[in-house]
Amino acid sequence: MIAGQGAGERCRSGHRLATIAAEVGTPFYAYDLDRFRERIRAFEAGLPDVPHLTCYAVKANDALALLAIVAAEGLGADVVSGGELAKCGKAGITPASIVFSGVGKRDDEIRAAVEAEIRSVNVESLEELDEVSAAARQLGRVAPISVRVNPDVAGGGHEYLATGGAASKFGLERADAREAFRRAATDDALDPVGLSFHVGSQLLDTEPVLMAAERAAELWRELADAGIRLRDFDAGGGLGIAYDGGAEPDVQAYTARLAELAGSVEATLILEPGRHLVGPAGTFVTRVLHVKRAGGRTIAVCDGGSNDLLRPALYGAEHPITVLVERERERALVDLVGPLCESSDFLALDRTLPLPRRGDLIAVELAGAYGRVMSSTYNARPLCAEVVLEQGSWRVSRERGTYDDLIRNERP
Ligand code: LLP
Repeated sequence: MIAGQGAGERCRSGHRLATIAAEVGTPFYAYDLDRFRERIRAFEAGLPDVPHLTCYAVKANDALALLAIVAAEGLGADVVSGGELAKCGKAGITPASIVFSGVGKRDDEIRAAVEAEIRSVNVESLEELDEVSAAARQLGRVAPISVRVNPDVAGGGHEYLATGGAASKFGLERADAREAFRRAATDDALDPVGLSFHVGSQLLDTEPVLMAAERAAELWRELADAGIRLRDFDAGGGLGIAYDGGAEPDVQAYTARLAELAGSVEATLILEPGRHLVGPAGTFVTRVLHVKRAGGRTIAVCDGGSNDLLRPALYGAEHPITVLVERERERALVDLVGPLCESSDFLALDRTLPLPRRGDLIAVELAGAYGRVMSSTYNARPLCAEVVLEQGSWRVSRERGTYDDLIRNERP
């Protein structure tokens, strides 16, 4: 089910998904744990021999089964909420290798992070810096902080995925970043340990990150000259994957260049990949409920939609699609849509596919990142199930939501 695999393997995994669908129903996400582990190991093996820490971006997929692998492989984590921090704790990820980014941290989340003694709170505003200081003081701790600087470099596979432009809500402008470091250096409740930046996501061209890294290294040197000595050079995440079957970015060239820059300022390089590690490990599986014609188009209505996988509706994302058919079939131009009362509810538009029929299974591939984590119960549709595949066997890792779940916290 994964781009690049042979027909035999494709057929085997198709059968496996059909077996799972028969047992757990549809829709569901399937995560290939072996593939996830492989991606992590390949990424780590490609890193040059410099002090570094890979902090998996938990927002891409926070399934505990995946976080357990992150922990077992010795990776750290990049979290953006108290909830993600709690999940990392549950999965056994060492606090000393957790960084906490995010533009809007509540006071209780800041306190939890300081109490857990994570590696750094990556502050994104001067007010937040003061909050971290107050929390640390209250708890009688010294909080390690990193300052997220806005690199003023735009990049990203879609305008919503660019986070590094000048007017972006993320990070601090250079002058404010300097001020944050100045304040932190003179505050005995704070320990400035790092400089971080993040350009955007789904980058197929990594040049913008390298440009941002050069600017960050400049600022780092300036700070060193002012007597502020940091440890972590955090270049964020953003590596894209080839949804269209084209080439992935040259990861080794990218990490080599970043390692060189981090080395030049004697820093520990921190990287926060999410999608690159987990995207290819996930498949979303849905069943065709009805096939109809409208305005000369063939529309296959599936039982999973943008409530389960929002990326096509939100970014016009085009995931590879496989119709799991037993034998050759006539191909046609098809729209795959979901069951929601929204015209934007589609999984794929205008694709040439084996003509779907009622009951067919559809595999939406490269769906491991920003899939289930962005799902909702819109139209009161319970969250779908998740299964994990490992060494030829599979198990349910999260039960399908129920109608009881939909009203669990409600008081009429
Ligand atoms: N670090 C920071 C500070 C981030 O904001 C992000 C992603 C990452 C790391 C991980 O980026 P990655 O390596 O996964 O590209 N929902 C969108 C993606 C939003 C990414 C937000 N930040 C999507 O479905 O494409």
